Amino acid sequence: MESQSIPHFRRLIPLWRKMGLPLRPREPLPSALARLLPGRSAKLLMLGVTPDYGDLSDDLTALDWSTEMIAHIWPGDTQSRRAVLGDWRDMPFENESFDAAIGDNAMTMLAFPDDIDATLKEVRRVLKPGGIAVFRWFLAPDSPPEDAELKALALSLSGRASDIMRWRFAIDAVHEAGEPTVPVTAAWRKYSRLFPDFGELARANGWDDAEMAELDIYRDSGVRFTFPTQAQMEAAAGRHFSSIELVPSGDYPLAEFAPFVILSQARR
Ligand SMILES: C[S@@+](CC[C@H](N)C(=O)[O-])C[C@H]1O[C@@H](n2cnc3c(N)ncnc32)[C@H](O)[C@@H]1O
Repeated sequence: MESQSIPHFRRLIPLWRKMGLPLRPREPLPSALARLLPGRSAKLLMLGVTPDYGDLSDDLTALDWSTEMIAHIWPGDTQSRRAVLGDWRDMPFENESFDAAIGDNAMTMLAFPDDIDATLKEVRRVLKPGGIAVFRWFLAPDSPPEDAELKALALSLSGRASDIMRWRFAIDAVHEAGEPTVPVTAAWRKYSRLFPDFGELARANGWDDAEMAELDIYRDSGVRFTFPTQAQMEAAAGRHFSSIELVPSGDYPLAEFAPFVILSQARR
C-alpha cells in the first residue's frame, strides 16, 4: 500500500491543521488515551507521527515511513520525543524495547490480513513483557446501514467537516466489497450515486467550495483502507495477543466505530 498511500497523505498535509475529530485525535482523545497508558515515564512507541500524541510520554518514539509526513506533520524532535523513518511491518528496534505502543487510526492503513498480521507481530516483538498496545481502531459494523441512514448523516453535517461523511462512506464500502480492505474510490462512487447533485450537500451543510473539493479526494485516490468487523479484528489480534479489550474512545462523530483496542498478554 506504500506507493498509493503516500500521495494520498501528501494531499492531506495542507488540510491537517484544520482537521479535527474523528480523523485527527484532538482533545479529549490524548487525555483519554493517557489514562489507559502506564504513565509518563513509560517508553512509548507510536505508529505514525500523530502530533496530538507527541507529549504523551517523557520518552516517545514515533515510527513512520514517510519523510514528508515527518517533515510536515511531526511537531519536531525534542529531548523527550523523536521520529524514526521506518516500516511498521519491519521495525528498526530491538526486541522488548518499549513499555507501550499506540497508534491513532493506524491499522486502517494496513491491508487485511497480511500487513496487519506483520505489524502486530512486530508490535508484540518490540514490547517488553507485560507491555500493552492501545490502538484507536475503526471497525465496521456487522451489517450495512440503509442508504437512507447514510443520506441522512450526509445531510446533517451543518457546521461540521465533510471528512465525517467521506469516512462513513469508506467504512460502508466493506459491505459491498465483502472484505475489510477497500479502495476509497468505492466510497466516492457510492456518495456520487446517492447524491447525483453534490450541490444538495453544499446547501444542506453550508459547505464552501474548498470543503466540497475535499469530496473529490477519494475520486482518483489509489489508497485502500481497512475496516474489519470486531470479530475479524479479534481474530487478527488474537494471533499475537491473548487479551483484547475494547474501550469507547469518546463522544464525537463516528466515535461508535472507533474504540480504543487494548492488546496485551494475559498474565499467567
Ligand atoms: C497514523 S495514520 C492515520 C492518521 C492519524 N489519524 C493521525 O493523525 O496520525 C497515517 C500515517 O501512517 C503512515 N503509515 C502508513 N502505513 C505505514 C507503514 N506500513 N509503516 C510506517 N508508516 C506507515 C503514513 O505515512 C501516515 O503518516
